[in-house]
Amino acid sequence: MSVQPVSASVADPDPLPPERFRTIAAAWPSGVAVVTTVDRHGRPKGLTMTAVTALSLEPQQFLICVDDGSSTLAPLLDAGRFCINFLGKGQEDVARLFASKREDKFGALGWSLDAIGMPAIHGAVAQAGCDVVAVHDGGDHRIIIGGLRAAAISGGAPLLYHSGRFLDVNQGQ
Ligand SMILES: Cc1cc2nc3c(=O)[nH]c(=O)nc-3n(C[C@H](O)[C@H](O)[C@H](O)COP(=O)(O)O)c2cc1C
Repeated sequence: MSVQPVSASVADPDPLPPERFRTIAAAWPSGVAVVTTVDRHGRPKGLTMTAVTALSLEPQQFLICVDDGSSTLAPLLDAGRFCINFLGKGQEDVARLFASKREDKFGALGWSLDAIGMPAIHGAVAQAGCDVVAVHDGGDHRIIIGGLRAAAISGGAPLLYHSGRFLDVNQGQ
């Protein structure tokens, strides 16, 4: 694959075409998570995310960035809680399911409620249950800071995402 230098665009005041922006963003490899919550009727909701990071050790906080167009956003803010399910090797089908707009994403899935009542997806390598402690404007996304309230670690190899492809960790090395 040929890589074009981006320096020529840096001083350009016009925004990049969306596809070029996405290509640059996709150059950064990441893990894959499904962030879950429950709506006011107790129904589980969730979406696949890569915009997830550990933020602070003291206090212990995570940061997630959720698209304004996500149907999970309103229930998550309403509940004031969410669970970050860090997906494991072989959970590509789960990542694809939660990247969809399907109504019943949890139908054929193994899951249970975690210690703070958020949906924990079986097979994830770790879970971080958080309370929403701050929400910031982030363009067309909400930057949501979560204070850690519950944690589970199963271990195992993570699922990775790079340049539009899911990778297992041994392929990513
Ligand atoms: C690999 C991957 C990473 C994604 N990362 C994010 C993300 O960080 N934030 C986000 O809002 N959407 C992200 N998405 C898109 C959502 O998963 C997608 O829009 C989903 O359909 C939203 O579902 P919902 O509307 O039911 O919440 C990602 C999708 C994929 C495939």
